[in-house]
Amino acid sequence: MTGLEVGFPGQDAPVLDGIDLRIERGEFVTVVGASGSGKTTLLRAIHGLLPAAAGHVQAGGETVKGPSRSRGFVFQADCLLPWRTVLDNVAYPLELRGVSQKERRDAARELLELTGLAAAADKFPRQISGGMRQRANLARALVGDPEILLMDEPFAALDAQTREVLQAELLSIWDRRQKTVVFVTHQLDEAVYLADRVVVLAANPGRVRKVVPIDLPRPRTLDIKYTSEFAATVNVLWQLIKDDVVHHAEEEKE
Ligand SMILES: Nc1ncnc2c1ncn2[C@@H]1O[C@H](COP(=O)(O)OP(=O)(O)O)[C@@H](O)[C@H]1O
Ligand SMILES: [Mg+2]
Repeated sequence: MTGLEVGFPGQDAPVLDGIDLRIERGEFVTVVGASGSGKTTLLRAIHGLLPAAAGHVQAGGETVKGPSRSRGFVFQADCLLPWRTVLDNVAYPLELRGVSQKERRDAARELLELTGLAAAADKFPRQISGGMRQRANLARALVGDPEILLMDEPFAALDAQTREVLQAELLSIWDRRQKTVVFVTHQLDEAVYLADRVVVLAANPGRVRKVVPIDLPRPRTLDIKYTSEFAATVNVLWQLIKDDVVHHAEEEKE
C-alpha cells in the first residue's frame, strides 16, 4: 500500500490517511488498534471493496480495483447459508464460478479435512457449534485457493478456549498452505501469538503508528502465551494503543 487514503461520502476527514505498508508473500500480519481506528476499512480497501481517495493498494504486482479470487475474506459473523449443508456452503464460491458439482465437492471435502470439519459435511449450520461455523467460513474462504487471506476479527465471537484452539489451527493451516494473511483483531494476545509482524493503527485519522516485529520462535504452541517474553510483547502493543482506547471510550459516553 502506498499513501493509501480512504474516506466515506459526506465526511470531510479521511478514515485512513496515508497508509504505507508492504506485506511480503507468505507473511502473517496482524492489525490492532482502538475501535474506530479503521481496521475493517483497511481490510476492505485491501480486498477492493472500497475505492482509495488517494494512493493505491497493490497485490501481487497489480493495482487492486475490486474483489478478486486471489483474495479470500473471513468476517467476524459467520455468513453461511442456513439452507445449505456445510459441504455445499464451502463449495459455494466454486459454484458461483461454474465449477462442476463433482469438482467443487471434491475441493470442498479437502478443505473440510484441513479444517477439521470432515464429520460435519452433511450437517446444516444450525446443527454445529460457533467454532465449527467459523471453521466452515475459513474453509469457504480457502476453497478457491486465494493467495491472500483477509480476516476481520474472525474469532471474536467465540469463547476463549475455542478461540485458542482455532488460533493454533489457523497457524498450522497457514504453515501448510503458505498463504499471506492479514488478520484484524482487537485482542492483543491473539495479535502477538499469530503474527510475524503486528501493525498498530493510530485513530482519527487511521494511520500506522508502528509496526512491531514478533520474534517468537515458530512453530508456536499455545504454551508460548504464558512466557514473560510474550507478556512483554503484549504490553508493548498496549502502550501503543491505550490512549486511543481510553479516548474512544470517553467519546462513546458523550
Ligand atoms: N460505511 C461507512 N460510512 C461512513 N463511515 C464509516 C463507514 N464504515 C466505517 N466508517 C467510519 O470509519 C471509521 C473506522 O471504522 P472501522 O474501519 O470500522 O474501524 P474498526 O474496524 O477499527 O473498529 C469509524 O469512525 C467509522 O464510523
Ligand atoms: Mg472493525
